[in-house]
Amino acid sequence: MSLLIDVPRGLQSARIYHDRDVFDLEMERIFARTWLFLTHECMIPNKGDFITTRMGQDEVIVVRQQDGGIKAFLNVCRHRGARVCPVEAGNARGFVCNYHGWSYGTDGALQSMPFEKELYRGRLDKRTHGLREVAQVTSYHGFVYGNFDAQAPSLLDYLGEARFYLDIWMEANGGAELVGPPARSMVHCNWKAPSENFVGDAYHVGWTHAAALKAGGSMLAPMSGNAMLPPAGAGLQVATRYGHGLGILYDVNPGAHDTPLAQEILAWQAKKRPAMEKAYGALRTRYYGSHINGSVFPNNTYLWGSSLFKVWHPHAPDRTECFTWAIVEKDMPQDLKQRIANSLHRTFGVAGYWEADDNDNMESESQLSRGHMTRQGFMNAQMGIGGDREDPELPGVVGESAIGETSYRGYFRFYEETMRAKSWAEMPVQDSTWKRQLIEAGSGLDPDPAGEAMVPAQAAA
Ligand code: FES
Ligand SMILES: [Fe+2]
Repeated sequence: MSLLIDVPRGLQSARIYHDRDVFDLEMERIFARTWLFLTHECMIPNKGDFITTRMGQDEVIVVRQQDGGIKAFLNVCRHRGARVCPVEAGNARGFVCNYHGWSYGTDGALQSMPFEKELYRGRLDKRTHGLREVAQVTSYHGFVYGNFDAQAPSLLDYLGEARFYLDIWMEANGGAELVGPPARSMVHCNWKAPSENFVGDAYHVGWTHAAALKAGGSMLAPMSGNAMLPPAGAGLQVATRYGHGLGILYDVNPGAHDTPLAQEILAWQAKKRPAMEKAYGALRTRYYGSHINGSVFPNNTYLWGSSLFKVWHPHAPDRTECFTWAIVEKDMPQDLKQRIANSLHRTFGVAGYWEADDNDNMESESQLSRGHMTRQGFMNAQMGIGGDREDPELPGVVGESAIGETSYRGYFRFYEETMRAKSWAEMPVQDSTWKRQLIEAGSGLDPDPAGEAMVPAQAAA
């Protein structure tokens, strides 16, 4: 692991994008024990409502219980392991396996098997053959996350300081929800490539999306072709414990990248701002009207201000399934919600004209890392290194400008921590420790014209 992530220097080995051993360890150390987004409560409002999704490479069913709670189970029959629920969503009294017909309740209990008396003769204990349950399932402002690890910290603790920023759009404006069902697509990239991009890459927007910025009449169009750099003080980046991170571009929240719709959303927000300001203060109300890009570690991405919400499901080192929803405010008129979703799918949906720009980069960095020589190298996330700090008003570690790689460094600092540890008990890192690691990063760097000093000693050996 010491060669994969160099926290003090802000470097990451190219192996993390295309190495089967690294991928397998990620499934064990990240996807089997961190909190993973499952669904929004609005997708399963009634008893028996369910959706199917993934947690790492495992398929799961998420289902509303008779008591109104939510549980999640492996979508795998306890007989011979066939898929129990073959559809993406619906309402059911239970699930019947397609192979031999074992039948389970929505609570996961094994209810009956064909010819139970005649063939099993009371020798199979049904109580121990229910669907395997996800250890922890918690809803945060309606956003439902699951965790396979019963020892993991609670979702509230896991989100930690990130909640200060998430609450601005998840709660403070009256709450947010998703418009589904999610669009699904397969991208030939490693799952981290897009997840790290959304955690902190404002750098690529003006360049990668140069044409897209103009095509839709986006409010961000002046950035097209890197014609301008957001001025000093135009935004910031934040890293919080457990790898979450975000970037804020102040006072730019078009809600959609097409002008008439954006104007309508801005007018909607303007009406809500006075009440928000009273309840949540001027700073967080400003963030409500700002563009926020971010990822909840490991694979859940959002763009508040572009109405985007995604999950990156790993299938293989270079295959990632993307689920895409639109984020809308709960109290918006239904018609407005639908038009925002339509706009979101034109930009960041399966064939969206922003999405295609991004996927080209995600796929090239992942596929090229397969090369024997390429994978000996390191990728660079040093922008702004040495300028990260704590802020009296803002939770987390804060970077020095709107464009930088502070949240990349925070993301990979935790990635390194969790990949090393055999259990949550081995991750006792305190706030002061991880913050110091980020703030002091870069202090030993002595850039030279040949760039040699930027290469970790181990890698050069
Ligand atoms: S595998 Fe499901 S009933 Fe046999
Ligand atoms: Fe992008």
